[in-house]
Amino acid sequence: MSENVFPLILAELKAFAATAPSLNALQEFLVELIPARLFYYNWTGFYMLDPEDAETLVLGPYRGAPTEHVRIPVHQGICGAAVAQDQTVIVDDVNSDPRYLACSLETRSEIVVPIHAHGKVIGEIDIDSHNLAAFTAADRDFLEQCAKIVGSYVERTK
Ligand code: SME
Repeated sequence: MSENVFPLILAELKAFAATAPSLNALQEFLVELIPARLFYYNWTGFYMLDPEDAETLVLGPYRGAPTEHVRIPVHQGICGAAVAQDQTVIVDDVNSDPRYLACSLETRSEIVVPIHAHGKVIGEIDIDSHNLAAFTAADRDFLEQCAKIVGSYVERTK
């Protein structure tokens, strides 16, 4: 079902990225578009590495419940793990993962996908769902392509 929506979102994202005025505008476009199309993406946002401190992730544009986790050290949380391991992390049940930093009590599962530019991790896309085990290999492929579009934009513009 959502598999049919992924290519459409990616096409819109690529088109916007071609002329996006700024990284922030591209990030805002993505966090607006994705949850509007994918009902089980209940929190969609960016954490980017602080340019002044490579050990800390800073909350960027997001949609969903406000979070107290505005800055996350890279050795904390599922967000930190995705950067530290430099790979996508999927957690089917956040309540049984000791790394999990709670944002909303309703969250049941999470996926975090690193973003790369110039061969290095620069941040990540974080999605929370109120459904258990919401994220499949198809979501991973989709979000890794979203991350690639954002990373390519950064490479073109910085
Ligand atoms: N759950 C994340 C923290 C960020 S909030 O979900 C928005 C984590 O465990 O790193």
